[in-house]
Amino acid sequence: MSEKELLVRKIENGTVIDHIPAGLGLKVANILGIEKNSSTSVILINVDSKKLGKKDVVKIENKILDEKEANKIALIAPDATLNIVKDWEVVEKKKVSLPEFLEGVVRCPNKNCISNSEEIPAKFWAEKKNPIRLRCYYCERVFGKDEVI
Ligand code: CTP
Repeated sequence: MSEKELLVRKIENGTVIDHIPAGLGLKVANILGIEKNSSTSVILINVDSKKLGKKDVVKIENKILDEKEANKIALIAPDATLNIVKDWEVVEKKKVSLPEFLEGVVRCPNKNCISNSEEIPAKFWAEKKNPIRLRCYYCERVFGKDEVI
């Protein structure tokens, strides 16, 4: 493909989060807090994908995201791939996986939970992975994935 046809070029060094469900790229970027670091980043929305039909991709230049950071997105993008790029090549490729403890990723759906009345990030224990069951660290109520996203 010529440079003229490429919407977004490859990166020399950094992290590419691939295979994000179409439409969730912005949410992934928010969870990762990419606006808070100084890296140049790009969110690609509705990219053609052989596996998914359409997908979103997030590219972060000159920042190596570690697995722990990347796993924060597993709740909303369970099939995402973490690609570490060095000197234009993908040197590491990992699937994200749901951590046992999630902090600041989603709000607690219980309106009366203390995490909703004070400016504190919600925290959950991932009690079960399939289907996902999250227990709020504060109010201890248990929620399914659809309730928290
Ligand atoms: N990528 C990039 N810059 C590079 C290398 C790769 O932006 N220097 C991006 C690619 O555009 C792609 C992702 O990183 O979105 C993964 O690259 P690669 O492993 O080469 O692609 P695939 O083989 O298609 O990946 P998979 O098998 O995981 O679908």
